[in-house]
Amino acid sequence: MKIGNLLLILFLIPILLSCEQVWDEVAVSSPDLKLQLIFHLVEGKPTYELILNGKPVLLESGMGFELAGLPALDSDFILLDKKISSFNKSWDQPWGEVKTIQNNYRELILYLQEKSGSQRKMNIVFRLYNDGLGFRYEFPEQEFLDQFQIAAEKTRFVLPYNDSAWWIPAYKPQRYEYLYRKTSVSSIDTAHTPLTIETRNGTFLCFHEAALYDFPSYTIYSPDSNVLAIDLVPWKNGVKAYVETPFVTPWRTIQIGELPGDLVTNYLILNLNDTCRIDDVSWIKPAKYVGIWWGMHIEKYTWGSGPKHGATTRNTMKYIDFAAENGFDGVLIEGWNQGWDGDWIANGGIFSFTKPYRDFDLLKIAAYAKEKGVNLIGHHETSAHIENYEAQMEDAYKLYEELGVSYIKTGYVGGKLFNGEWHHGQYGVRHYQKTVELAAKHHVMLDIHEPIKDCGLRRTWPNLMTREGARGMEWDAWGPDGGNPPDYVPTIVFTRLLAGPMDFTPGIFDIEIPSKPDNRVNTTLAKQLAYYVVIYSPLQMAADLPENYVNKPAFQFIKDVPCDWEETRVLNGVIGDYVTIARKDRNSDDWYLGSITNESPRKFEFILDFLERGTSYTAQIYADGGEADWNTNPLAIDIYERIVTFKDTLFVSLAPGGGQAVRFASINTQEHKEK
Ligand code: NOJ
Repeated sequence: MKIGNLLLILFLIPILLSCEQVWDEVAVSSPDLKLQLIFHLVEGKPTYELILNGKPVLLESGMGFELAGLPALDSDFILLDKKISSFNKSWDQPWGEVKTIQNNYRELILYLQEKSGSQRKMNIVFRLYNDGLGFRYEFPEQEFLDQFQIAAEKTRFVLPYNDSAWWIPAYKPQRYEYLYRKTSVSSIDTAHTPLTIETRNGTFLCFHEAALYDFPSYTIYSPDSNVLAIDLVPWKNGVKAYVETPFVTPWRTIQIGELPGDLVTNYLILNLNDTCRIDDVSWIKPAKYVGIWWGMHIEKYTWGSGPKHGATTRNTMKYIDFAAENGFDGVLIEGWNQGWDGDWIANGGIFSFTKPYRDFDLLKIAAYAKEKGVNLIGHHETSAHIENYEAQMEDAYKLYEELGVSYIKTGYVGGKLFNGEWHHGQYGVRHYQKTVELAAKHHVMLDIHEPIKDCGLRRTWPNLMTREGARGMEWDAWGPDGGNPPDYVPTIVFTRLLAGPMDFTPGIFDIEIPSKPDNRVNTTLAKQLAYYVVIYSPLQMAADLPENYVNKPAFQFIKDVPCDWEETRVLNGVIGDYVTIARKDRNSDDWYLGSITNESPRKFEFILDFLERGTSYTAQIYADGGEADWNTNPLAIDIYERIVTFKDTLFVSLAPGGGQAVRFASINTQEHKEK
């Protein structure tokens, strides 16, 4: 090249760099190069596109915010700079559905600034994984953007087609406790996330969010046939979020799978959360528990005082004995504290979280549990009266710490929080966050019912063990619609459970519930067992009354099944139809398998190639009996054993509404135990 030309090029470079057009399109690919993100700045407006193997996942979709009393932050931008980097490291979960998680992504940061006005700055950060995308907005500290209110988020997800979605409605009195509907995207009213979509290309997508610490959660609506739009849950005054720079929003996430099961083993949400904030996690332990709970739901006991009071000293000690005799780690006690008498849902303001009922000797019970090596799981139903709870939280958690009560189940029954705020707006998010951090300070592990949805907070605060946040087992005890239908769990595995663990509370053996003539459990007995593998939770309840487990051979499976896993594999699955999951115990060489179906009977064959080579296993099989049927013959169960290795095939036959549970007990482990 002539020296003159070179000088010309060197002279032109700064001019080209300062020209907006040079920057109007920036692309980044996933580590495996299959997924591609293209960012555009068209006439100052930021948009993005997502492409998988050359086919669009999202067409050009809008971004930005409307602010209260200030110009919107969605246009008039120039790109000051961009940064692309890679990250690839693994990390171990202290407990979980899998031990080691690979965090492998490519990141693109776009540094935007308004061209005119007060020249406010906003960065957009994209992280591209092999199995999805996360992006968030960053508001750096700056002179003309300090404290402000977000009036709306303008993030859009424009799908190429009006695909099928599984969703539950938002802004409804039962919070997240609805049956999933399957409709086209355009028929979505306002839906909660995780929102699962099957695209016309045969790909499965899940829209959700990660690292929700101090922002409203988002719901999703469809303003146009194939368009999804973010709707931030408002404060009662209409403001969406109060923020102060420097500030980052939660990540907006799109997980992608070729099969529905790929979504189950997609760890993008956890990866996008901050690393653990608790230095010593040795006190945080998964647990299986029993409790004074189902008895209230089937009206054998009452939460409040009186002749049917469940949480008496005597009864609690019986539960502690049962837990100790059967190897359970914990006993949940509901209705131990004052405030349940009368309409407890309406009168949340009178709950005490430190004062027990007179027939519940807290000190004696705490000492007895300790003597028996059983943890107590305390219960704080707030009836969504946050002020009453926050006024007592510190004292209550301190008391629990002193008594050695290491788990608390909290509850927020109510269509809205008592002060008129939504559970899922920024006010609610802040409250739940406060409980988690305070609990950590007092070495307490939490199980939140009527929670804010799980956005992976367990990575940062692993004392937040599990949550409800969907219709659990209790709906079968009293659901006015007859409870959870047989296709319910095969649906939530690919929807709600994509967010994180759920305290579903399975294990009901007394399926026909004689005390509730209008209700029953809509499964076979074997399906109840399979739930322990299929539904992941580090706190897993054997929910039935202890007397219903006596002399029941099937109870052995609940005693054996762990709730902390080394590995998880989804062997098959069709949303709403069936699913089979295999998991390896974290503390032994054993594997477990759970397979469930909706109303249709099914037969599967699984090659057991997930088992360790060179090891033999006793497959302890809990299968639907010959004539089993969730509706007409739910209790028929066949329990038998076979010796298997990784070369063998397991033939699974599921009854209508049925399931199968298998423990693959490593013969080496068994020999080890016998020595
Ligand atoms: C609803 C919860 O889901 C349930 O588990 C609890 O027993 C009741 N609230 C009472 O707190």
